[in-house]
Amino acid sequence: MNTMQTKYFDLRDTKRPVNEIESQIADAAAILRRGGLLGLPTETVYGLGANGLDSDAVRKIFEAKGRPQDNPLILHVSGAQWIPRYCVDVPPLAYELARRFWPGPLTMILKRAACVPDVTTAGLDTVGVRCPNHPVALAVIREAGVPVAAPSANISGRPSCTSAQDVLEDMDGRIDGIVDGGPCAVGVESTIVDMTCKPPRLLRPGGLSLEELEGVLGHVEVDKAVLAPVTAGERPRAPGMKYRHYAPKAPVTVVTGAPDRSAQEIRRRMRSSSGIICFEEFVSMFQGHKVQSLGPSGDKMTQAQRLFDALRAFDSDRTVTEIFAQCPDNRGIGLAINNRLKKAAGFHLVDADEATVIIGITGGTGAGKTSALRALEALGGKVLDCDQVYHEMLRDNRELCAAIGAQFGDVFAEDGSLDRKKLGEIVFADRDRLEMLNEITFRFIRPELQRRMRETPCLLYGIDAIRLIESGLATMCDRTVAITSPQELRVRRIVQRDQIDERYARLRVSAQRSDDYYRENCDLELSNTAESAEAFEETAREFFEKLILQIKEEKQHGREE
Ligand code: TXA
Ligand code: MG
Repeated sequence: MNTMQTKYFDLRDTKRPVNEIESQIADAAAILRRGGLLGLPTETVYGLGANGLDSDAVRKIFEAKGRPQDNPLILHVSGAQWIPRYCVDVPPLAYELARRFWPGPLTMILKRAACVPDVTTAGLDTVGVRCPNHPVALAVIREAGVPVAAPSANISGRPSCTSAQDVLEDMDGRIDGIVDGGPCAVGVESTIVDMTCKPPRLLRPGGLSLEELEGVLGHVEVDKAVLAPVTAGERPRAPGMKYRHYAPKAPVTVVTGAPDRSAQEIRRRMRSSSGIICFEEFVSMFQGHKVQSLGPSGDKMTQAQRLFDALRAFDSDRTVTEIFAQCPDNRGIGLAINNRLKKAAGFHLVDADEATVIIGITGGTGAGKTSALRALEALGGKVLDCDQVYHEMLRDNRELCAAIGAQFGDVFAEDGSLDRKKLGEIVFADRDRLEMLNEITFRFIRPELQRRMRETPCLLYGIDAIRLIESGLATMCDRTVAITSPQELRVRRIVQRDQIDERYARLRVSAQRSDDYYRENCDLELSNTAESAEAFEETAREFFEKLILQIKEEKQHGREE
């Protein structure tokens, strides 16, 4: 098949003499008019163009790409004045979109006119039209004087091409010419909106954001195929959305969630032969691996530009057996990046936020909570000490203080801060009042813990709360663990630790809830009969290691079902 001589037109530098540029454009356009195939730059990705009104020419596109016949092509035009030539029943809003966003990364699906051949639209009664924002593409289309049917220039199923080199890699010898207009500015394909239905429907997210579209159109329906796999037998409205696409040879897993967490989750899962696609900030975390950077986590424009490059780089690397990719959120052009990455992964996804494990730890004094928490920390966990959080909130959280003031009256010092001694005198003298105070604090502590978790994202948290059950915090946890220990051992530990006499230590133990209470109310019990704190910490570490694995497996399983 690769038998043609592919002519190369270098139009990267538009500052060259005008007559040189014009003659190159004329030669490239002549290929289209003759019914040949031409690789063409656009602002999104490179296209593989042919005269869209010439059935024989269009057929060659399908051949060269190995593209399924039922996948229609987009007609590229040089301005909105071409719309009525190829479309009928055009709604006024379509012209409004063209006015706002053309030339640009927007394809509109409209009713087709009779002059557009069946091969171009794969027999549909609609046709996609777009005016690309690339001076070279526009000049070639104008010069050719025909609408240019152009899919992305990659071999069907491969990542799209964002440079002329990419196009030659796939198409050298299969096409008549390639126009090199430099690297693509946008990097992902155009946004496709179906204007033949109400409300308009987003068929493919792309270089123009959904938010910008909705700014003109009001509510836009997002087609199901955008973020979920198309199942067997389903017919998506953009036929192309049903095909496996953009996929490198090795299987891809997309890891969503807060960037810190997704990076950690990838580290946890990767093997020595894993390739990584990650944000710039995390490259150093994957030393020794094949890594493709998407650019800074906060810069989606750069991520879009680099995306296909990254996928292509792995496609030609046979040493990599699996690929893990970080992924931005869905806002703006993030939706297009999500869609391409997830399609490349065949929708094999892991949500690092969901992969977060939260373990609640409770139990009486002297049972060994501190050692258990140290074990969690040794496993990379972050401990949230609710007692400490509570005291910090009494100092800093105005709403909490106001709520306490409303209930208990003047419990404030002269500088307006909460006077804990005053408050203590009120509540410790009266059980009901203590309950009231607890009710207030329980209401405030949960959102505070959630806020702290968001602020310092981590894959593993230990929530340390003596009132884990009563406070309702247990429901935040994947598992609650009661740390228990025989009474005599607890007394001995308290005497040693707090330098108090035995009688007083016994009093403290008996004033607390019994081990039975914790045992009954927690998911699991970790009993501490160890001789030393170090020995118990070791036991706890093994216990948590197994537990965390089990929880993660459950989560994984739940998602796949
Ligand atoms: O940015 C782009 O749009 C690039 C550059 C070259 O312009 N082109 C491009 O074309 O991405 P292609 O063929 O790779 O993707 C076109 C998508 C396919 O999913 C196809 O099924 C869908 O548009 N499509 C084309 N005509 C359609 C129609 N009449 N109705 C619904 N979907 C259509
Ligand atoms: Mg394509």
